[in-house]
Amino acid sequence: MSKVNILKLLSKKQQQEKFAMVTCYDASFAKLVEKAGIETILVGDSLGMVLQGRDSTLAVTIDDMAYHTASVARGCQQPLIISDMPFGSYNHPQQCADNAATLMRAGAHMVKIEGGSWLAESICLLNQAGIPVCCHLGLTPQSVNVLGGYRVQGRDDSQAKAILNDAIALEAAGAAMLVLECVPRQLAAEISSTLKIPVVGIGAGCDTDAQVLVLHDLLGITEKTARFVRNFAEGSNSIEDALKRYNSAVLDGSFPTDEHSFN
Ligand code: KIV
Ligand code: NA
Repeated sequence: MSKVNILKLLSKKQQQEKFAMVTCYDASFAKLVEKAGIETILVGDSLGMVLQGRDSTLAVTIDDMAYHTASVARGCQQPLIISDMPFGSYNHPQQCADNAATLMRAGAHMVKIEGGSWLAESICLLNQAGIPVCCHLGLTPQSVNVLGGYRVQGRDDSQAKAILNDAIALEAAGAAMLVLECVPRQLAAEISSTLKIPVVGIGAGCDTDAQVLVLHDLLGITEKTARFVRNFAEGSNSIEDALKRYNSAVLDGSFPTDEHSFN
C-alpha cells in the first residue's frame, strides 16, 4: 500500500473501486490494519462504548480522542487516519476549528463531525485552516437523545429527502467525505451516486463507495451486534487474517449483502 490521501480516495470513486475503513484506537491494531491492506482508519468516538464500557459516546472528550489518535498514528504509516470530534466539541465554528487542530496535531489527516447543513460554516473554516472534513449523516450516535434510540433513519420519504439535501449541502460546503449510518440501502445508493465525494456506509447497504465497521464488531468481540455486522473472525486463523478478509469482502463487493442491509 502506498500512502493514502484524499485524492487517491476520490479517484477510487471515479474508477468505481471500493475501499474499506475500520475503527482503530491503538498502535498495535493500527499496525495489523495496515498489514491487512485496509486503506482508511477511523479513530471513532465509539471508543466510549468499546474501550470505556459506556452505553453512549457522549462522555468522550477531545483529550480521549487526541490520546487514541496519537497512539494509532504511531502504529501505522500508510492509511488515512480520520478522527471523530466528540460530542460538544464542535458547537461553534471557532470551537470546532480549535478542537480539530488538536486532533490534527495528534496525527489525524481528517476529522469527522456528525450533523447536517448547520455545519456548513464550520466545514468552510476548517478547510481554510487546512483541515479536511468527513461528515456523518443518518444515525448519528451523538444525537441518540434527540433521535430516541439507535434506529434506522430516513425510512419515510420526507426524512430521506432531508438526509439527501443535507448530504448535498455538506458537499457544497466543502466536505471531503461522508459517512452514512443505518439508512435504507436505496437512499444510500442515491446519495452515493449524487455526490462526487466518497460515501462510506455502515448499515447502509452495498452501493456506497466504501464500508466502515467497528473493529470489535468485525472481530466478534462485541456481545450484541447490529444486523449490519459480520463476524470476520469466524473461520479466520488470526486477527490479521480476519482484517484481510474484511478488506477483500469490501473490495470485491461480497460484504455487505442484503441480509446486512435495510430496505
Ligand atoms: O465512532 C464510530 O465508530 C463511528 C463509525 C461507526 C462510523 O462513527
Ligand atoms: Na463516531
